[in-house]
Amino acid sequence: MAISETLSGQSVLILDPDAQWMSSAAKPPFDRAMVVSNAECEIRIQGVDIDVAEHVLRDMDGRRALQDIAASAHTDCASLIKWLTPMLENGVVAEAGMASDFVTPDTFTETCRRVFPLWKERLFSHPLWTSLAQGSAPRDVFLGWLIESYHFIEGVTIRLPMCIAACRDASARAVFVRHFAEEYDHRHFFLSALQAAGMGAEVARRRPLPGTGAVLNCMREAARHDFLAYAACSGFLESTGADRDSARAFFARVAEHYEPTSRGIVKPMVAHASLDESYAHGLFLEKVCRHLGPLPRMRADRALQAAWSLLETLEFWSQDILEHYQAYPPGGERRGYGVRAANGGSWHDRDLSSSVEEARSC
Ligand SMILES: [Fe+2]
Repeated sequence: MAISETLSGQSVLILDPDAQWMSSAAKPPFDRAMVVSNAECEIRIQGVDIDVAEHVLRDMDGRRALQDIAASAHTDCASLIKWLTPMLENGVVAEAGMASDFVTPDTFTETCRRVFPLWKERLFSHPLWTSLAQGSAPRDVFLGWLIESYHFIEGVTIRLPMCIAACRDASARAVFVRHFAEEYDHRHFFLSALQAAGMGAEVARRRPLPGTGAVLNCMREAARHDFLAYAACSGFLESTGADRDSARAFFARVAEHYEPTSRGIVKPMVAHASLDESYAHGLFLEKVCRHLGPLPRMRADRALQAAWSLLETLEFWSQDILEHYQAYPPGGERRGYGVRAANGGSWHDRDLSSSVEEARSC
């Protein structure tokens, strides 16, 4: 990356999204120190107020000039430039003015909106979804899809908190916190659907399929690396415009095939989609990006790759549901993966000893 001859108060810097920092407590005769690192190097910062340094690192989002950051951190710009210069020379921070290395948040969201419909078309061409829409999937597969959908929705309690915990941008974090407040209890829609289908709390307590766990892990992994990657995954999942019409049509066809006389199973899922729509969750990605400055091209690429990984993982998920529930009906004992509820408790604390024996005998 090209570097300006000198930094000035007007310079606008952005911290490498992969950079980590760690500060130490003061140990006489040494001052408090901080180590900032990325994949290439480690920079030790000493002899400056570490609280101020942390404040500055958090503010370097590619939107604010150094003089404004200095003012908000109650420090002088000259000393800021002194300790930031080695970081710039070593690529831990970059100048946001180097346009070719950055994309605007609008460009990023527009790219997502361009590719997501194509990706969704691919996902919903999977035999699980087409057979459910056509009514050719066995009822057990329909029930299995309900169960795993419940687990995925319930899993918001383990994926979104990871994003909130890892997000260093206060404005973006507020968007994730609000999203969690709106989503954390949406499992009840799917629990109602399960109960209407003759299942309920007992089934909900079962461990989800590995494919469902993989989807949750995929999103947790994205969240741990970068909240933008999580936002891209979430943006892919949320329905927008034409997607919403397709989702409604899908639910109507599923209801027609699997509960022709009542609407007690699919109705809660339709109600859930409507509630999310009233929260404008379709614009979640845009809500997050509204708070961001120029995005390093590599960061935007990685976020898009995370959403692509989610697409692939959702295909594995679809295949897992289709194969597992055709072989092992939801009402029976789960085999194949060797996990079953031995104590009637939650899937977090079940006895796996029988599964180990079962695996040994294979
Ligand atoms: Fe929801």
